[in-house]
Amino acid sequence: MQEQPTAIYPGTFDPFTLGHLDIVERAAPLFGRVIVAISQNPSKTPLFTVAERVAMAQEAVSELSGVAVETFDGLLVAYAERAGAAVIVKGIRGGEDAAYEEQMAQMNRDMTGIETVYLSASPAYRAVSSTLVKEIARFGGTIDRFVPSGVARMMKERFRDGS
Ligand code: PNS
Repeated sequence: MQEQPTAIYPGTFDPFTLGHLDIVERAAPLFGRVIVAISQNPSKTPLFTVAERVAMAQEAVSELSGVAVETFDGLLVAYAERAGAAVIVKGIRGGEDAAYEEQMAQMNRDMTGIETVYLSASPAYRAVSSTLVKEIARFGGTIDRFVPSGVARMMKERFRDGS
């Protein structure tokens, strides 16, 4: 039998949400290995450092077998080649995501031939976004239903400290 390919699930993950976890949980049985690849993209100014984002993602996926968390800088396709990944996995919440992801998928495939596989977000997480979770937390709202417990804890600490 052929070996199952390694897939990368890339993103900023600022922070890692239950929507992200849902995609990783559903991707894990489809591939030999899934790497949650956290972008260090210096053009964005994330709330959490890359080390904090790694820690949050690692805690969230710790029970899943065949899942690793890594970081990458620069082009995603270059990282995919270094990591020996044949597939990029993305979650799609709706039309806006689809348009944006379609463009990136096509350019990534044009550059290296790598394919992008989309998983449709589960209805429970279709509205969850890292950006909105940060906004809710910043204004003192409850985010426990949107993020893993470790992330909720770190967000509370961050906003208590006045960030
Ligand atoms: O969670 P995000 O912010 O939507 O993730 C976007 C990410 C990191 C997957 C995307 O910006 C990316 O792939 N960045 C790496 C740089 C790159 O390869 N750019 C060309 C894309 S065609």
